[in-house]
Amino acid sequence: MKAIILAAGYAKRMRPLSRECHKTLLLAGGQTVLGRIVDSLLTNDVRELVIVTGYRDDQLRGYMAEEYGDLDVTWVHNPDFDTTNNIHSLALAFKEIKNEEVLIIESDLVVDPEVIKALVNSPYPDVAMVGPHELGMDGTVVTVADNVITQFIPPHLQPETFDFTDAFKTLNIYKFSAQFCDTVFRPTVDFYSQTIDSNCYYESILGILIYMRRCKIFAEVVDNNLWTEIDDPNDLEVANFMFTPEERSSILEGTHGGYWKYRFTDFCYIRNFHFPTGSMISDLRRNVKPLLANYGSSQQVLDRKISQFLECDADQIVLLNGASQAYPFLRQKFGDTRVLVPKPTFGEYRRIFPNARTYPDEPGIDMNRIEESLSTTDLVVFVNPNNPTGTVLPTEDLFDMASRHPKTVFLIDESFVDFCDETPVQDLLVDKHLDNVLIIKSLSKSLGVPGIRLGYVYSTNRELITTIKEEIPIWNINSMAEYFLELLFKNRPQLEASFQKSKDDRKEFAEALRTLEGVKDVVNGGGHFILVRVDPALFPSPKIVDDLLIQHATYVKDVTEAMGSSDTHLRFAVRDQRDNMRLVNILASLSAGS
Ligand SMILES: Cc1ncc(COP(=O)(O)O)c(C=O)c1O
Repeated sequence: MKAIILAAGYAKRMRPLSRECHKTLLLAGGQTVLGRIVDSLLTNDVRELVIVTGYRDDQLRGYMAEEYGDLDVTWVHNPDFDTTNNIHSLALAFKEIKNEEVLIIESDLVVDPEVIKALVNSPYPDVAMVGPHELGMDGTVVTVADNVITQFIPPHLQPETFDFTDAFKTLNIYKFSAQFCDTVFRPTVDFYSQTIDSNCYYESILGILIYMRRCKIFAEVVDNNLWTEIDDPNDLEVANFMFTPEERSSILEGTHGGYWKYRFTDFCYIRNFHFPTGSMISDLRRNVKPLLANYGSSQQVLDRKISQFLECDADQIVLLNGASQAYPFLRQKFGDTRVLVPKPTFGEYRRIFPNARTYPDEPGIDMNRIEESLSTTDLVVFVNPNNPTGTVLPTEDLFDMASRHPKTVFLIDESFVDFCDETPVQDLLVDKHLDNVLIIKSLSKSLGVPGIRLGYVYSTNRELITTIKEEIPIWNINSMAEYFLELLFKNRPQLEASFQKSKDDRKEFAEALRTLEGVKDVVNGGGHFILVRVDPALFPSPKIVDDLLIQHATYVKDVTEAMGSSDTHLRFAVRDQRDNMRLVNILASLSAGS
């Protein structure tokens, strides 16, 4: 059995990385793309290769000579690689194949050897490897009935309304029998590329042959975790994540987001799972086009919109591109003053106030101790409920303390307040102004939309608010986020209901966690997350994060260091009931297995 590797392409989409280096020689998951394909073939006893080159032919030859010098490689050069497509490369490669079974492999794939094994061992004579179609995939798809491919559907035949539900994506890895190649496939590829079009994909020929019932190609369905296509630089990141499991947690920590491209369940980032509603999402989807095509409104309009939703004065609020937008301003204004922050807390407070003194949240905060330090404090930060402990301070106590200390600025972060039973301090300020209080709130968590970036600062201190407004760029919030704000007015009852559902989920999740072996404490917190203290012998820190990611595609936050404890401390975002119970079962299996 010979394997044809098609590696002639220009790889324009991979620029700038492919300017100096052939795309298949880029590192993906700790190995070159080509090296992984060749190793997978060798592991499965396929040792005769036909490699079609075009762009940077010399690099490929040099690489193979250096790394696989003893291999039997037939080199085929496609000098017209920049004006022809893979049909022409395949036609050239077919000249080297006579009356034998052949594997055809596109070189822009990062595959696990299991995929090649499944192909080589497939009982079918003519077979295409396919994976269930998923969001973000593009290219040719196929339909399958009784393991047989019934249609090849190239991108130009996939209209906007195309239903991908039952479609499969071709991996562009095939095995074809000598009979099919010699009598049907090769002659058609030759004829088509020579007389009709050499700048098209050979998959079109497969599509035509299937349509004309001139062949029967079986589908081998593979797990999408075992392969990925490499078209542009983002795909390399995905490949690194998939194929270097030991680096997964550092990749996720380093990116702080953009997790949609990776396959795992995220218990790290926190958001309302019951909002926005399905109809809000449909509404956004219907309006994507005008929203992308239009500028958002000025800050004045945005502040009016958020103030109307929150029923407060527009002069007292600044809508932000996420609460985080306030941090550079806070650093600039208060960075050189005497600041007091909780420990542990949301990391940005330590980052913007690196010299701040701290007060402990163990979990539990001693308000009397804080009050004693206020005479020497210019700004005190409260995160209520605090992250990651979930500690909730009574609103009345905070409000009273702020009224007794007018010279100290109280920065109160109420990002999680909707998930606890306390009234926000912000609500009390509407009737009784305290100009030394600045409320900051992320809307990512309560509205369930960290991706569109919404948050605000609120204060009855107009001077402070005016100074922040002056810092804001002329266009700050994107149209999608602004439109989302408009939708909120129609969905207030649903939002309220979602908070109740979230609290119910947290309660049920916490109760289930308490029953697990190795769980020493489940903190009764008010955030939309649960802090759990566990036995380090069963759940060692930081290894447990990797174990969960590698073995169970589940990402949790390890806060052991932040808690300064010898026990492992993990923070779990509350997701929906099904996901929460899945995590409980995984933890149960881990503690039982160790
Ligand atoms: C307490 C707290 N405040 C603010 C933020 C920042 O939120 P945003 O996404 O709105 O920037 C976070 C994010 O996790 C947080 O935990």
